This record gives sequence, C-alpha cells and structure tokens, in this order.
Amino acid sequence: MRSSSNWYWCMLSIGASLCALGVLAAEEPTPLPRPLPAMQHPADNAATPEKVALGKALFFEPRLSRTDKVSCASCHDPAKGFSNGERVAIGVEGKQGTRSAPSLFNVGYYRSLFWDGRARTLEEQALLPIQDAKEMGMNLDALVRKLNGIDDYRRRFQTVFGGEATAARIGQALAAFERTIVSRDTPFDRYLQGNQQALKPAALRGLKLFYGQARCFVCHQGPNFTDDEFHNIGIFDDGRLEAGREAVTGKRADRGKFKTPTLREIGQTAPYMHNGRFKTLAEVVQHYNFGGVTDEANDSRDEKLSVLYLNEDQVNDLVAFLAEGLTTPAGK
Ligand code: HEC
Ligand code: HEC
Repeated sequence: MRSSSNWYWCMLSIGASLCALGVLAAEEPTPLPRPLPAMQHPADNAATPEKVALGKALFFEPRLSRTDKVSCASCHDPAKGFSNGERVAIGVEGKQGTRSAPSLFNVGYYRSLFWDGRARTLEEQALLPIQDAKEMGMNLDALVRKLNGIDDYRRRFQTVFGGEATAARIGQALAAFERTIVSRDTPFDRYLQGNQQALKPAALRGLKLFYGQARCFVCHQGPNFTDDEFHNIGIFDDGRLEAGREAVTGKRADRGKFKTPTLREIGQTAPYMHNGRFKTLAEVVQHYNFGGVTDEANDSRDEKLSVLYLNEDQVNDLVAFLAEGLTTPAGK
C-alpha cells in the first residue's frame, strides 16, 4: 500500500497519469521526470527543412576551416555520440585544445552553452569554433567570401534566407540543424511511458539508485538530466583547478565550477568530464562514491556531494542505468 503522503508527493512530482500507471510502485518516492518536451526553435530562427539541411551540410563541411580539413563533425562525430572519443579537442594542424568536446545530443535544450556557460545561444556559439585558432582557425569575412564563391552554397543560402551567405546566417543554419540532434527514445524514455520491460533488471536497480541513495538527480535533474547550473565536483587538471565558471562571472566562489551536462547517450561519449579525465563510467561513479573528494585542496566543492557508500554491485547497476538505460542501443 502506498501511504497517503507518498501519493500526494507522487501527484506533485510527476502527475497523476504516471502514478496511475504504477511506475512508482517502489516504497521510496522517486522524482521521475516528465517526458522530454518537444524542441523549441526561437521565433527569429524558425526551422525549415531547407534551413536544417543547409545547417547539416555546413556542419559536415571541412571548408569551414582555414585548412579545408576540419569540420564541426571532426570533433562532434555522430558515430561517437557527437563527441570525438578523445580527452581533448583536436583542431587545425593537429592543435590540441584544453577541454573535452561535449556531445551535442539535446544541446538545444540547454540554457547556456560551453562547459562554463559563456555562450547564450546556439546561433552565437556556432561562430566561435570557426574562428578559434586551435579549432577551425578561419576568419569569418574570408569564410563568407568562400561560401558565396561556391555555386551550390550561394543557391542554398538564396533559397533559405533570400540572399547571400553572411556570418549571422551561417550561425542560424548551423543552430537550426543542431536543434534536431535530439535523444528522446532511450530505454529510460520507454520505461517512463509505462513499458516496464524497457529496462533490464540491473539498469532498473541503477535507476532506483540514481533517484535514491546515489542522489545523482539532485544536479542531473528533469528529462534532460541537467539543472542548467554550475558545480564544482572536484575535477582537477594535473593538480590544478581550472577557473571554469569563474572566468565568466569573475567570482572566486565560481572557481572550478562547470555546467551540469546531460547524461543522455552517455554510453557513447567517453571519455568524461570537461577535461576528459575519466575513461569509463565506472570511474565516474567511483569519483562520486567517494564524495568527489580528491587529494588536492578544494575549498568550494559542492555541498550536494557526499560519500555514497555504494558497494561494487551498486556501482555496476548505476553504470548499467547510464550505459543501457540512457543510451539508445546501437543500430537503432
Ligand atoms: C577542434 C574541435 C572542435 C571543433 C572543430 C568544433 N568544436 Fe564544438 N566544441 C569543442 C569543444 C572542446 C567544446 C567545449 C569548449 C568549452 O566548453 O570551453 C565545444 C563546444 C561546443 C558546443 C557547446 C556544447 C555544450 O554542451 O555546451 C556546441 C553547441 C558546439 N561545440 C558546436 C560546434 C559547431 C556548430 C562547430 C562547427 C562550426 C563546432 N562545434 C566545431 C570542440 C570543437
Ligand atoms: C553537485 C551536482 C552533481 C551531482 C550530485 C552529480 N553530478 Fe554528475 N556532473 C555534474 C557536473 C557539474 C559535471 C561536469 C563536471 C566537469 O566536467 O568538471 C558532471 C558530469 C558527469 C558525468 C560526465 C558527463 C560528460 O559528458 O562528460 C557523468 C557521467 C555524471 N556526471 C554522472 C553522475 C552520476 C552517476 C551521479 C550520481 C552518482 C552524478 N553525476 C551526480 C554535477 C553533478
């Protein structure tokens, strides 16, 4: 029997329909999220099929770089969960960046972009890697001239925007395409919709830990698994705490804070964290299991972290939830 307070809580957190489906049969009330809402395109950059197709062509276009060799997809490869499988980004002439290339799954749902949240819109963000000396190293005016000199692009910009390529239009087309990179049909989503068989036993036990003892949902909350906030969870770079959010706000208290990333398709996007420090999900979970405490001094580690006391089986179950529950099976 469910107690009346649990019932009330259940109504509050996920609504009567899921409660009625009996998704929350467990004793512990679990704040399972609602299904992911449909993607919103901004009014000043409405998506048309032609615009999305142009954005897609630009995303895979190495001529966006100075050397004609690096495209967005070089670092955000769909075959690698729209990341690159490396610890850090590798751009023109093999230049290495300092941060890991994030997956672009559900990037259109974030309130801010980059690990430190320094960009506000996808339209604005898209022009930054093009110009970054270590990424695509391209001058924007030169790029606009280059694209307007290619018949196919000139024709496509004309169809979509009624005029020539401009920097702003390049950003708009790329952003419209990026908003179509959505993960919303994982086994977890099917489970949320009432399919009890969608999660295998280990992943189901992991789900209960995620919303229970392991308290992951405190930051990785809602249907996109992020609170859109910044936290210092004790991820050091060779003994040094990177400025992170402090570089944007100028506040000392923000040192070492990074944006909570989505966990959707996480099984495809190793290595993990802003610096690619962890190779496997088991390493990530062990980091949290020890409360995010490292050998280095860290005066602003997030208060929401604490020792979790997960045994080895529980660590494996949590990994199963991440790798199988939140990740679309290969070939689907
Ligand atoms: C050389 C590798 C590289 C290339 C090329 C590259 N990116 Fe990225 N991308 C990164 C890295 C690294 C970050 C994270 C940087 C940071 O947070 O400081 C990032 C971040 C992003 C983000 C923010 C994601 C988030 O979770 O906040 C978006 C969106 C993005 N890139 C889109 C693009 C687009 C569009 C292009 C092509 C115009 C592109 N990238 C080209 C490496 C690359
Ligand atoms: C205090 C907030 C907070 C809590 C609690 C939390 N996380 Fe995170 N998580 C973050 C932040 C912030 C990052 C990015 C940190 C960085 O890169 O430095 C992150 C990163 C991750 C990543 C890597 C994502 C990627 O794309 O590289 C995984 C996986 C992850 N968390 C899983 C979990 C699991 C599992 C739990 C529960 C055991 C958990 N998190 C609890 C805030 C949190």
